[in-house]
Amino acid sequence: ASPKYRFFREQGLNPEQQLPSALIIGVKKGGTRALLEFIRIHPDVRAAGSEVHFFDKHYAKGFQWYRQKMPPTLEGQITIEKSPSYFITKEAPRRVQHMNPSTKLLVVVRNPVTRAISDYTQAISKKPDMKPFEHLVFVNGSDNSPIDVSWGPVKLGIYARYLARWLKYFPLSQFLFVSGERLILDPALELRRVQDFFGLKRVVTEKHFYFNSTKGFPCLFKSEGHSAPHCLGKTKGRNHPYINPVVLQRLRDFYRPYNIRFYHMTGINFGWS
Ligand code: A3P
Repeated sequence: ASPKYRFFREQGLNPEQQLPSALIIGVKKGGTRALLEFIRIHPDVRAAGSEVHFFDKHYAKGFQWYRQKMPPTLEGQITIEKSPSYFITKEAPRRVQHMNPSTKLLVVVRNPVTRAISDYTQAISKKPDMKPFEHLVFVNGSDNSPIDVSWGPVKLGIYARYLARWLKYFPLSQFLFVSGERLILDPALELRRVQDFFGLKRVVTEKHFYFNSTKGFPCLFKSEGHSAPHCLGKTKGRNHPYINPVVLQRLRDFYRPYNIRFYHMTGINFGWS
């Protein structure tokens, strides 16, 4: 048992591991780590630190296994987990509904063009011999052919398609869509929306954040496990490669109808097009 768990016990409190009542389901490279790290500052929110991948990879292990991956909580605390692959996993909506039909679902979305580049930047950091973005984004590797919708970084940005699958199992009122752009520009504002959505007191505020100009991102003054100011790790907020503007325009045009569909579905104009 962790020191914290022992402490609870000694205080006569009864910490228990609970299945999550809220999930950050996506999207990959949207800012999901930032959202999780920021919301878990709240004393009434407890998070599984690493991605559990229960609803995609480990579902066969059962809910008991999943629950054991969760941190101990006290009554009234919200247990949350993030695995961005859930958003695009076919079986996930049905499985999550089976766990708990009132699960709250958080989706961080970001301009799909930027998201694709972010995804590519992560991929090439692991596999440096990858072809250039400008090649992989087209079916025949050149800009006189169509956008390759089967390429992961492109495909994942068609948010409307994946959301449609989730909406067969959950009402829109159970979702909160967090703007990945605003999470960078004004984290306190997005965190206020999250706390209100959870029905929590607004504890996480402007006071927790400062803009680190070296990193180019908001960072935290302090949080669980850190007494000193700190930013997210090196793999969050990478420098993106230069992409040919003609290619960027092709991608913007490609996503426009899907973005508009997504705005209609969510009732929110994210301002990407
Ligand atoms: P880049 O590294 O491409 O800039 P995820 O955690 O879902 O993988 O998302 C990673 C992205 O979160 C980063 O993509 C970055 O743009 C974004 N992000 C949002 N807030 C951040 C913060 N405070 N610090 C670092 N990255 C942040």
